[in-house]
Amino acid sequence: MRNFTSVHDVTDMDALVQTALGYKADPFKDKVLGTNKRIGCLFLNPSMRTRLSTQIAAQNLGMEAIIFNVGNEGWALEFEDEAIMSGSTVEHVKDAAPIFGNYFDILAIRTFPSLKNREDDYSELYIKQIIKYAGIPVVSLESSTLHPLQSLTDIITIQETLLNSPAGIGRKPKIVLTWAPHVKPLPQCVANSFAQWVNAWGKADFVITHPEDYELSEEFTKGASITHNQEEALKGADFVYVKNWSTYNDYGKIYTNDPKWMLKHKRWVHTNNAKIMHCLPVRRNVELSDEMLDGSMSIVTQQASNRVWAAQAVLSEILKSNG
Ligand code: CP
Repeated sequence: MRNFTSVHDVTDMDALVQTALGYKADPFKDKVLGTNKRIGCLFLNPSMRTRLSTQIAAQNLGMEAIIFNVGNEGWALEFEDEAIMSGSTVEHVKDAAPIFGNYFDILAIRTFPSLKNREDDYSELYIKQIIKYAGIPVVSLESSTLHPLQSLTDIITIQETLLNSPAGIGRKPKIVLTWAPHVKPLPQCVANSFAQWVNAWGKADFVITHPEDYELSEEFTKGASITHNQEEALKGADFVYVKNWSTYNDYGKIYTNDPKWMLKHKRWVHTNNAKIMHCLPVRRNVELSDEMLDGSMSIVTQQASNRVWAAQAVLSEILKSNG
């Protein structure tokens, strides 16, 4: 593996999941793999889980992790080629990225979308420019359209849960991705990425449910059943992934905040005792009710904890492939 920016960088998803679960069982078994190697983690946007889990994963492999909150502490970066930099940006990625390439062995970066211009966001200019100019392997810590470390974690968590349930072994689970209300327009990254990974995994009945006009890009959802009827979608579900996203077609808008879309126990009872997933952070009693988050059906803490093993599996693959 050279870079990790989407499911397309993964040649064998099952093997990567097994690697991650192997690290969960024995975190320090490759503690010399990253000796004398350094990862730079650039954050243009806030984070808790991604930052800490990547740092821990790197340290478990013997790597030094250096965190740089570019968005708050660094020079404002320009990403457009041939830009006339007379505005707010101070340093061009063409100048900064090769320096990161000399300082580090792996570069990881988080860049959120603007949600103003769909074409710009979906071009993934930021991460493409970093890859182009850094000259070292690049890991997405969430980009404008995808969150692959989160999605790998989600597949790990689903597989782990199935393996730990005698009834789950060998059975094709029903996975539902449901839209939830939110007070702010959020990126489509987590939903796009989850759809992309579940479709690529190919071992589930996959249903996406959302209000009208909240369609995601078909690039990611193709292969899933899509319905506007959440109650119907939930029937017989084994896993329910709850997530808000803003509109994709009329880009970056909130069309509804209908609280009926917030998952509650009275709708969950139609599932097959479904496990509830969310990438976090979650707005309690807006996106998901307390009764769901605090109930035994919630696996959000297990899911967030698995972020370490997903990151460790990816970093180890990159270290092994790139010497
Ligand atoms: N799920 C996730 O990416 O969390 P953070 O934004 O806290 O990193």
